[in-house]
Amino acid sequence: MPTQIKFNDVTKKYGDTTVIDQLSLHIEEGELFTLLGPSGCGKTTLLRMIAGFHSVDGGTISFNEQVINDIPVNKRDIGMVFQSYAIFPHMTVKDNVKYGLNARKLPKEEKERRLEEILETVQISQYRDRLPARLSGGQQQRVALARAIVIHPKVLLMDEPLSNLDAKLRVDMRRAINEIQKEIGITTVYVTHDQEEALAISDRIAVMNKGEIQQVGSPTDIYLRPANQFVATFIGHSNLFSGKVSQKDGKNLITLSDGYRFEISTLQRDIVDGMDVTVAVRPEEFIISETDKGIEGVVLLRNFLGKYIHYEVQLPNGSKVELSQDTNTSKHFFEVNQSIKLDVMVDKINVFTSDGEQSLIEGVKRYE
Ligand SMILES: Nc1ncnc2c1ncn2[C@@H]1O[C@H](COP(=O)(O)OP(=O)(O)O)[C@@H](O)[C@H]1O
Ligand SMILES: [Mg+2]
Repeated sequence: MPTQIKFNDVTKKYGDTTVIDQLSLHIEEGELFTLLGPSGCGKTTLLRMIAGFHSVDGGTISFNEQVINDIPVNKRDIGMVFQSYAIFPHMTVKDNVKYGLNARKLPKEEKERRLEEILETVQISQYRDRLPARLSGGQQQRVALARAIVIHPKVLLMDEPLSNLDAKLRVDMRRAINEIQKEIGITTVYVTHDQEEALAISDRIAVMNKGEIQQVGSPTDIYLRPANQFVATFIGHSNLFSGKVSQKDGKNLITLSDGYRFEISTLQRDIVDGMDVTVAVRPEEFIISETDKGIEGVVLLRNFLGKYIHYEVQLPNGSKVELSQDTNTSKHFFEVNQSIKLDVMVDKINVFTSDGEQSLIEGVKRYE
């Protein structure tokens, strides 16, 4: 049966230090759900609580309707893959994968069938008789993955499984993990601190900071409509400006500190006149021109990247802004030292309270 994982007011303490305080979260059946956040924010702690390696010090964790707080590790029916491959060096690929099955009471033919099936799925059939020392890092990680899923666990847990691989292999393995997960449809909780990896692999992401969930959503939701300044700057780059809201004829305007003013229709209805705000603009959300309206700046650096041109621009107040221009759709490019004007794509930019804690865009909420 497909498994839902529910955290209800879960608390975790190490000694006197509370690292997770009354966290609630629902992970849906069959989804690839990622816990994303900086090192030390509590991702591994949550994962190890699901696995049963850490006690739950308050609240409950459930699989479907069953509370698992007191169920021992070996009865939870979980597959795990870690950063270090943790496969046995003296056993062949086949024996490593089979190892997980040996603890199960299954007919011999069924074990053989599952073994063949999983070796195929993770594409390591041709290495079945090799020892791990003669495999690449990516192949070793496929063996670890096969061993975790051959038992058909209820839940698959992966803690930074790609961080020991080189960049190119990481990208290949992202796709492999995604395809395998979809094929077997097992509820998967994936931990990473790499935002690009999280965006590429996940059905949904929980962005965490300091033991708290900041936002839960699809990769597009989280990138396009971050719930606060932390999410906007942790996922991709956001240029931040301070501004003030004013209202005229029932419309909202924002004036940036350098005086540039624009109308904006995406703000929440209960916004108040005179409110101080933080405006977040991604590099691709500027419209650059020589003469039109906009924030004034001077090009400091230009970096041609093929599909995009990346500019670093200095503003009169000394701060720097990063922007990118689509090579394909741009009429002309700008030179170093050139004075330019930066208009913003008003429907796309994000606006937060001045402390950065809350998005002020209609419909965007922090996770509660
Ligand atoms: N066994 C432990 N004893 C004491 N503190 C711990 C232990 N494990 C983790 N911590 C602390 O708990 C916090 C969360 O750690 P962790 O879950 O490993 O974060 P992440 O996986 O996001 O990097 C950190 O401040 C870390 O120092
Ligand atoms: Mg960790």
